[in-house]
Amino acid sequence: MPQPANAKLPRHIAVIMDGNGRWAKGRGLPRIEGHRAGIESVRAVVTACAERGIGYLTLFAFSTENWKRPKEEVDALMGLLNLYMEQELPTMMAHNVSFHAIGRLGDLHPAVQAKLKQTIAETANNTGLYLTLALNYSGRTEILDAMQRLLDEGAGAVDEAALQARFYDPSLPDPDLLIRTSGEMRVSNFFLWQLAYAELHITPVHWPDFRAGHLNAALEDYAGRERRFGGLG
Ligand code: FPP
Repeated sequence: MPQPANAKLPRHIAVIMDGNGRWAKGRGLPRIEGHRAGIESVRAVVTACAERGIGYLTLFAFSTENWKRPKEEVDALMGLLNLYMEQELPTMMAHNVSFHAIGRLGDLHPAVQAKLKQTIAETANNTGLYLTLALNYSGRTEILDAMQRLLDEGAGAVDEAALQARFYDPSLPDPDLLIRTSGEMRVSNFFLWQLAYAELHITPVHWPDFRAGHLNAALEDYAGRERRFGGLG
């Protein structure tokens, strides 16, 4: 498959990893098997982004709304997160990936919080792909938390820079490309502020089937877009 020229590569790719449940159902498997299979896709996409020289990759792994799922599924997802961080550390180190997390992290299971801290620290000196998991995250919550911080600081006025400086990770640039798997045409409370000018690539492929070839197709799609940021170009 042809690969887009580097000049047209997105600096920051955000991904809504959807369709794990449908993938599992289609195979007569429990939903959690879809999530487990999704880890393979995470590895494939992280590796491909690192090799392609993408700057930032953010994966929406657990939303503030996902707590409403059955306890067994939530517990299994938390277990898979820990498994992911444990088993993927060598891949992250080999590919110079630094690992980060955004969201209301203090409400996550203590074991997950501990593993997050450890993985962030262990990859802190890596200078390649900046990988972020959005966990217990929603775009509205992030905006509210930033506004609350401004109020707590006694701010009398707010502008874009002041609000963005209080987001969970102010060093993240806005995503240039949002990929959503499994075909739904919505942003589902992800990066509401930051997606203002993002290009959207929605594929019918379920997340557990998503591989480097699908990422290349998204990059090709992106490279063909004309971005005008509200101007006339
Ligand atoms: C959406 O599929 C996916 C999730 C809610 C969780 C995402 C988790 C993973 C990809 C696995 C682990 C990830 C990491 C980073 C370790 P869905 O369950 O909503 O699918 P459905 O819409 O088909 O039911």
